[in-house]
Amino acid sequence: AHRSPVITIDGPSASGKGTVAERVARVLGFHFLDSGALYRLTALSAMKAGASLDDEAAVAALAAALPARFRDGRVWLADEDVTDAIRAEAVGEGASKVAALPAVRAALLERQRAYRQAPGLVADGRDMGTVIFPDAPAKVFLTASAEARAERRYKQLIEKGNSASLADLVADMQARDARDTARAVAPLKPAPDALLLDTTHMGIETAVQAVLAHYASCEGRAQQGN
Ligand code: CDP
Ligand code: CDP
Repeated sequence: AHRSPVITIDGPSASGKGTVAERVARVLGFHFLDSGALYRLTALSAMKAGASLDDEAAVAALAAALPARFRDGRVWLADEDVTDAIRAEAVGEGASKVAALPAVRAALLERQRAYRQAPGLVADGRDMGTVIFPDAPAKVFLTASAEARAERRYKQLIEKGNSASLADLVADMQARDARDTARAVAPLKPAPDALLLDTTHMGIETAVQAVLAHYASCEGRAQQGN
């Protein structure tokens, strides 16, 4: 049977994955999966339940039963709108901790694959191309310098009226990158067949066009039967 196409977009924090993936999905009329939101929701659930973020069995049980819903750009946990709550740096930090637990990743695996539906899916995260959709026809890995990424987060926080320290953000970013890259299960790394895109000096629109062009070339190859 033919499987719906998937475009995977992986990379470190603030490399632009979410923004680029959402736009590519809109252009193609594809579904969109923000896999990081599932890890953020798991961390938030654990924090609310008072569970320790390194209690693997307890956190995995929460992940398996996550009452998460995505609708009209909002994220819900049961009947609570947690769209803004899950973006807090503390929740991102918690997400990166629970994401290192193999039982948590296993609990979220099938749920992520279920998003692969016609006419297609754009999925962003850390292991979309390596673990969740290894057979995806088009894979992209976005990078950018830690300084550029910290500046983007800084701007986002200031625009939302929060206070932030650029130096703290660079340090947080490096700590999270290190944990995501060093972990034993599904570490942050490009799939061997991923297109690498450094967005340090690249605008969003240019990155979107590069992903679309890559997808078109992958599709062309598939039609020639290779
Ligand atoms: O937006 P940002 O890149 O900062 O974070 P995110 O994509 O929402 O992911 C938050 C955390 O969840 C990451 O630091 C990873 O540790 C984890 N994550 C993961 O392990 N695998 C994924 N597919 C997505 C996120
Ligand atoms: O999903 P991820 O954490 O990788 O990043 P994002 O939330 O999509 O992007 C973080 C911020 O950087 C957003 O405000 C984007 O608009 C901005 N950005 C940018 O200015 N230039 C890029 N090439 C990519 C993202």
